[in-house]
Amino acid sequence: MSAEQAPPKGPDFSTGITPGDVPDGGMLAGHVGGDTVLLARRGAEWFAIDATCTHYHGPLGDGLVVGETVRCPWHHACFSLRTGEALGAPAVASVACWKVEQRDGKVFVREKAEAIAKPKAKARGAADKPGRIVIVGGGGAGFAAAEMLRREGFDGSLTMVSVDETAPYDRPNCSKDLLAGVAPEEWMPLQSPEFYKAQSIDLVLGTEVAAIDPKARQVTLAGGRNLPFDRLLLATGAEPVRLDIPGAGSAHVHVLRSLADSRAIIADAASAKRAVVIGGSFIGLEVAAALRARKIEVHVVAPDKRPLERVLGLELGDVVRRIHEENGVVFHLEETATAIADGKVTLKGGKVLAADLVVVGVGVRPRLQLAERAALKLDRGVVVNQYLETSAPGIYAAGDIARWPNKITGDSIRAEHWVVAQRHGQAAARNMLGQERAFTDVPFFWSQHYDMPVNYVGHAEKWDETAIEGNVAGKDCVVRYKRGGRVLAAASIYRDVANLEIEAEMEAAAL
Ligand SMILES: Cc1cc2nc3c(=O)[nH]c(=O)nc-3n(C[C@H](O)[C@H](O)[C@H](O)COP(=O)(O)OP(=O)(O)OC[C@H]3O[C@@H](n4cnc5c(N)ncnc54)[C@H](O)[C@@H]3O)c2cc1C
Ligand code: FES
Repeated sequence: MSAEQAPPKGPDFSTGITPGDVPDGGMLAGHVGGDTVLLARRGAEWFAIDATCTHYHGPLGDGLVVGETVRCPWHHACFSLRTGEALGAPAVASVACWKVEQRDGKVFVREKAEAIAKPKAKARGAADKPGRIVIVGGGGAGFAAAEMLRREGFDGSLTMVSVDETAPYDRPNCSKDLLAGVAPEEWMPLQSPEFYKAQSIDLVLGTEVAAIDPKARQVTLAGGRNLPFDRLLLATGAEPVRLDIPGAGSAHVHVLRSLADSRAIIADAASAKRAVVIGGSFIGLEVAAALRARKIEVHVVAPDKRPLERVLGLELGDVVRRIHEENGVVFHLEETATAIADGKVTLKGGKVLAADLVVVGVGVRPRLQLAERAALKLDRGVVVNQYLETSAPGIYAAGDIARWPNKITGDSIRAEHWVVAQRHGQAAARNMLGQERAFTDVPFFWSQHYDMPVNYVGHAEKWDETAIEGNVAGKDCVVRYKRGGRVLAAASIYRDVANLEIEAEMEAAAL
């Protein structure tokens, strides 16, 4: 530890604590030397693991213990207290386990335990063990599936084909710290090139899959090469909706889906003075915040009465608007853009906004073309069963394209969330190996506006009541979205534990 570093918080577990310091089912964050450690208790059993999340270093001690797991307060990664394994994305790397000793009425943690080798999971269903698995798409879902397949002991051939030139990266950061200029590009890859080599994952980048033949069990790449498969995962994600107005194709008009898009906006932002963001979506507003961090004048044009009202409701919509206005964003609400020209955007109401940079964030469309041509069952997405298998046996779908049966609401839903995509990928991987595990994870997403995170759990397309706890204007609240008295979803600002508790309740109800 350097002289400038703050000493670790909490008790020093190497000198022991009394068992009563940790309630049954609870946890305590402390340290052993310079290492932060989390001590948890379930009945007579004690567990100790590293206290820092392997995703973005969230403090696990500020999260929630659920059964034998601990959930990260920031983006809900789930770690096993017993093994340290990152059971649920967005973290994929495990945390270290520590030895717990009980002596003389005290509990001590002094040294790390040996890593526990993961036993190979047994296939419950399909007797035919797949030898070749192909993943179409190198985004959140595709990456998580590949990683989980190897983690679960799949030793056959594994190919991931992506039209993206870049190996899987942290897509949500494309509109956040990377775009704001606070995060370096080194943070973006989800894994190093060595990982793919070591795991024998054949990463085929910059290559489009042109067709899937479910009967012949092969995919055809754009160049004509065929790849046979025993199991296939379709994870083609979504593409941004583009505007159909004059000037929408100009060089200074951008959409934001990929790292290349983010880089292009960053390049233009270097000389831009005034930007117009068209669309008050999460991505549009995150772009607005990132461009404000670069001291660019930002105008947001959106057809809604208040930003994000359709997803977050009236009260949170007002807070989001206020925080952007406090940071200098100018809104043009209940407005649309009708034309873009060099240096200006014309609005329907007649206003003309100066703009040397335009970013369009008006939503995305799932990429369904491959699934459609392969005659997979579609319904505003690729229809999958509870195991994430499509209408074609052996072909699974995950992420933004998949519409899956949601146990919580009883209907089928599609979501465009990073953690959902990764959890889908992980679940599909296990099911491709015959584990037959129904996907029951509760949808979760987060969004960041300056220093204000919004965490959202569940899924509510429509609700008839909101129940507010805390102080919305003071940015310390939980809003529950209910239909017929039932909580379908909840959004919170700085109430991470409450958000995790609601997730745990929904999870239990789904099981
Ligand atoms: C800028 C931005 C910020 C976001 N921020 C958040 C956030 O804060 N929180 C949150 O929860 N969600 C966020 N999201 C949404 C989240 O990133 C997506 O839900 C998630 O990436 C979906 O994962 P996916 O694997 O389904 O698709 P993607 O990640 O889009 O990956 C799809 C992959 O398929 C490839 N592909 C497509 N077609 C083909 C083909 N025919 N052949 C080969 N490859 C193909 C693409 O190149 C890509 O690699 C954000 C999205 C964006 C764009
Ligand atoms: S920092 Fe823990 S899930 Fe993101």
